[in-house]
Amino acid sequence: MTIEIIINLTYVVAAGLFIFGLKLLSHPASARKGNFISAIGMLIAVVATLLDHQIITYQYIFAGMLIGACYGGWKARSVQMTQMPEMVSLFNGFGGAASLLLAWSTVLSIGVEPPGSSHHTLLVTLLITLLIGGITFSGSVVAWGKLSGKMSSKAFIFKGLRELSILHLVGMVIAGIFFISEPLNGLWLYVIIILGLSFGLWATISIGGADMPVVIALLNSYSGIAATAAGLAIGNTILIVTGLLVGASGLILTNIMCKAMNRSLMNVLLSGFSKPIEQGEVIKGEVKILSPQDAFYVLEAAQAVLVIPGYGMAVAQAQHAVRELQTLLEDNGCSVDYAIHAVAGRMPGHMNVLLAEADVPYDQLYEMDDVNPRMENYDVVIVIGANDVVNPAAKEMKGSPIYGMPVIEAYRAKSVFVLKRSINAGFAGVDNPLFFKDNTRMVLGDAKETINSLIKEFSD
Ligand code: TAP
Repeated sequence: MTIEIIINLTYVVAAGLFIFGLKLLSHPASARKGNFISAIGMLIAVVATLLDHQIITYQYIFAGMLIGACYGGWKARSVQMTQMPEMVSLFNGFGGAASLLLAWSTVLSIGVEPPGSSHHTLLVTLLITLLIGGITFSGSVVAWGKLSGKMSSKAFIFKGLRELSILHLVGMVIAGIFFISEPLNGLWLYVIIILGLSFGLWATISIGGADMPVVIALLNSYSGIAATAAGLAIGNTILIVTGLLVGASGLILTNIMCKAMNRSLMNVLLSGFSKPIEQGEVIKGEVKILSPQDAFYVLEAAQAVLVIPGYGMAVAQAQHAVRELQTLLEDNGCSVDYAIHAVAGRMPGHMNVLLAEADVPYDQLYEMDDVNPRMENYDVVIVIGANDVVNPAAKEMKGSPIYGMPVIEAYRAKSVFVLKRSINAGFAGVDNPLFFKDNTRMVLGDAKETINSLIKEFSD
């Protein structure tokens, strides 16, 4: 058996492990195992690729692997749960950058070849890799900046943005044609790289913070598409398969996120080009504040409680306290459910990860569509650091930027406790009429401290 056949058979095994890993990743209970199996698949793929006779020297490869492994290991240990979304953005960006660099070095290594269809196919795949890799990298860096608070999360829109985008796209097509017809002229390579990077930069800058979930999922998909194109360019089967898996799963996730926000993908991507939406009517009413002690008396008498976590629970790291409160409520004869909105937090699955860390049983977690029809049955809904995902403006205020977004209809429960530090708006920057409803009480303060006070009341 030649080495090539061994490598290809190994790639089949690796691809099988990726697909099996992905299947396991689709459920929280099996997700860790899925991650581990996929990582084994990747290790096998990397080792098989290293056996390739085309490799001239190993020293740079091992130096790169060592630096990458040390940095990755340190980051994995030191990253806070609240920083995971921006970390995911960076991962996407690194994927795009790797494809870009691969295509760049392949272009530089192209010798003089007679024009032919295979040569042109190679140049087209390299062009796609350079552009999508660049867009993914710079777009992910902006998403990282917005999610980590290093940049304003507001959409940066200026006059002439639409015209500039069209010009930019036309520029990419023209530069692409020149790149394919004159591949040995280095100028076009660098023009393409600059156009790709700059397009990703301001295409993401012009998208508002509330749409970041879709952007992250889409950039994830782009990093897969760039890897597929890179795999086609260098003729590496496993890179094509991996890229396709990432690209397809990213697109599925993008679709889920769009549905959760009731937006079409085009609407999200072009939102920066449309007129800014008015904030809508001013919310009138009185905010009623409740102390944790008074909240305890209501909870003590409750038979059915629904917990709706949001980004604030992640900030306060309140998940373990929430789990403790759940046990106390259950010991008191009360049923406790959790409602998870698909875009709660700052990344897909953010709340599920936190609650899993605190050992909250998976069968107590419900999706929005499961709890909304039975909302009236809950005596108390405890909203913990969530804001946009329970905002009734999405249903009631036509002029609101989030009008039409599916939300968890907490306001239909018998009573609602909102645990947050102030009555300020959430990530979307939209005021929340829930805080002014007759059945809502605001329990102000850090979520963990408030829940610990409730736990203390129960224990006393
Ligand atoms: P948000 O609407 O951002 O609300 C979180 C709330 O938590 C804030 O209003 C904040 O209010 C409160 N908070 C912060 N720290 C707290 C603490 N220590 N203790 C108590 N409360 C605290 O979050 P959400 O309801 O989860 O909605 C998610 C939003 O993020 C959506 O707009 C979504 O589009 C966007 N987003 C989601 C994702 C994904 S994929 N999930 C990614 C990017 C963006 P105070 O300051 O008053 O405390």
